[in-house]
Amino acid sequence: MRVAIIGGTGHIGSYLTPRLFDAGHTVICVSRGLRTPYREHAAWRAIERVEIDRTAEEASGTFGERIAKLDADVVIDLTCYRLESAQQLVDALLGRVGHLLHCGTIWVHGPSVEVPTTEAAPRTAFGDYGQRKAAIEAWLLSKASELPVTILHPGHLVGPGWAPINPTANFNPAVFSRLLEGKQIQLPNFGMETVHHVHADDVAQCFVKAVEHRSAAVGQAFHVVSPAAITLQGYAERVSAWFGRPAQLQFLSWEEWRQGVSERDAAVTWDHIAHSPNCSIAKARTLLGYEPRYSSLEAVRESLDWLIEQRVVGN
Ligand SMILES: NC(=O)c1ccc[n+]([C@@H]2O[C@H](COP(=O)([O-])OP(=O)(O)OC[C@H]3O[C@@H](n4cnc5c(N)ncnc54)[C@H](OP(=O)(O)O)[C@@H]3O)[C@@H](O)[C@H]2O)c1
Repeated sequence: MRVAIIGGTGHIGSYLTPRLFDAGHTVICVSRGLRTPYREHAAWRAIERVEIDRTAEEASGTFGERIAKLDADVVIDLTCYRLESAQQLVDALLGRVGHLLHCGTIWVHGPSVEVPTTEAAPRTAFGDYGQRKAAIEAWLLSKASELPVTILHPGHLVGPGWAPINPTANFNPAVFSRLLEGKQIQLPNFGMETVHHVHADDVAQCFVKAVEHRSAAVGQAFHVVSPAAITLQGYAERVSAWFGRPAQLQFLSWEEWRQGVSERDAAVTWDHIAHSPNCSIAKARTLLGYEPRYSSLEAVRESLDWLIEQRVVGN
């Protein structure tokens, strides 16, 4: 099939674009051409690159048409953050593509009731980003009878090339350095809140499976996460154990904890622990045959090894 992928050089696209090519598809990668993929792959030489600035083209009302003119059977949209963006794209693609796959987020869920959370849980998103993604999801699914659409909701993306969400639920790599050196770290509350990572290559795997299992995928939303969420305490202990050290953990109330970190780190941590995601992948496993290669900790380990190699951690 001819597959157009919007945003095909980022965290997910660096894996997905070559995977689609390897699966035998003709791949057209749309981006502004500013970024290079996170990893080398021979497939990039054969992949058609089309430079389009979505923001600029959307403002002039031409983005949807530019994508439709690529004449793809399948469009994978990794960079849609606003309902109007989804609407402009869908308007142009109606009757012109066989399958639109949209990248959502597990942030369409707010605080959990029963865990693991399934895709059937009522949407209780909070925060601007999650609410916008939930609105896009609801609208796209309402259009599924006109345009075959599938939505994949990844967890916290992990891979070599960028810092993963750490055991204090933010991106500060110094937390990993302290654990590596056997130094104490502070955790908010009892460290029992959760994060739910996924390796970017597993997200890529799931997109390819959704393309290949079109009839099961159309009209559906799927979580794409690792097989199990992890608690902050367990995460910190396992990272320390990798370096042969017992974790030195201090538990502080949220108010005390936030005083010891930057405003930015506190905001990111709050966003993650207020969600404390723990999502089920049973639906993707059953309908698409999704089988993640990485546990959360295996994915983090790969990313952490890269951070150590780059001397971002432990230096
Ligand atoms: N990050 C996470 O942990 C996470 C978790 C859950 C869900 N998600 C979802 O994952 C998706 C993002 O995927 P990602 O993290 O792989 O993306 P990313 O790493 O941010 O990559 C963005 C891609 O889009 C291109 N791009 C950016 N601005 C553009 C523009 N104005 N016009 C055209 N292309 C543009 C970039 O290339 P150029 O810069 O060269 O244009 C790049 O190829 C989003 O839908 C997000 O909601 C992310």
